[in-house]
Amino acid sequence: MRLYICLLLVLLTACATTTQPTQPTPASPSRAGTDDQFPGSAVPYPANFPDDFSHYLTVDRPDGTVRDIYINADAVAELRQGRPLPQNTVIVVDGFHAEIDAQGQPVLEDGRYVKAAPLAMLHVAHRRANWADSDFPSIARNGQWNFGSFDVETGERFDEDLVACFNCHQTMADTDFLYSTDDLLRYIRTDDTQYEFCNLRRRVPC
Ligand code: HEC
Repeated sequence: MRLYICLLLVLLTACATTTQPTQPTPASPSRAGTDDQFPGSAVPYPANFPDDFSHYLTVDRPDGTVRDIYINADAVAELRQGRPLPQNTVIVVDGFHAEIDAQGQPVLEDGRYVKAAPLAMLHVAHRRANWADSDFPSIARNGQWNFGSFDVETGERFDEDLVACFNCHQTMADTDFLYSTDDLLRYIRTDDTQYEFCNLRRRVPC
């Protein structure tokens, strides 16, 4: 009997040992995570933004945001020559809260929102043929585009779900995964920054 109890105790102890929780995994990288830790870290902060960029579109949205959209100068030069977007095309969305009046409505000036505080992050789409699989934050692919998000004040990586970028932009496969192709081409033809009011809230495509 004593032997039996001993065996049982040994077994229970072994069991308890194997069901011990495994060591906690290291904390996920913060927005200050180093480049090789952070998913999607292959997309760099846009070099010389906004100096070497053209502001081709502003979008006002009824959720009280204004989005200025920029593309790098080399890409503009190629498009002006009638050529497609080159390698290392970089497109940036620089967002702002709209100024809100006492009734909670966006203030209008010449029918357009007035920019107030910047949104917390810059959104970046970067086009290159030679990404490695490990450069992507998700298994989804949008042609040659990869996405990044950066803290607007510090330039460090902004901690948000980059898989969502791929999933939403995937619906625009017909126009190389971009929402604003028409506006970009109008900008190339006219040299005028385009303007759109999108009457749908959040980032729902118009
Ligand atoms: C729910 C849909 C949705 C998600 C998620 C989304 N976007 Fe977009 N994105 C849009 C829409 C719509 C536009 C067009 C501009 C607008 O209306 O604000 C746009 C525009 C852009 C543009 C300008 C080029 C273009 O496609 O017109 C870039 C760059 C961009 N987004 C990057 C990102 C990044 C980076 C993320 C993830 C951090 C992201 N987007 C997540 C819907 C989305």
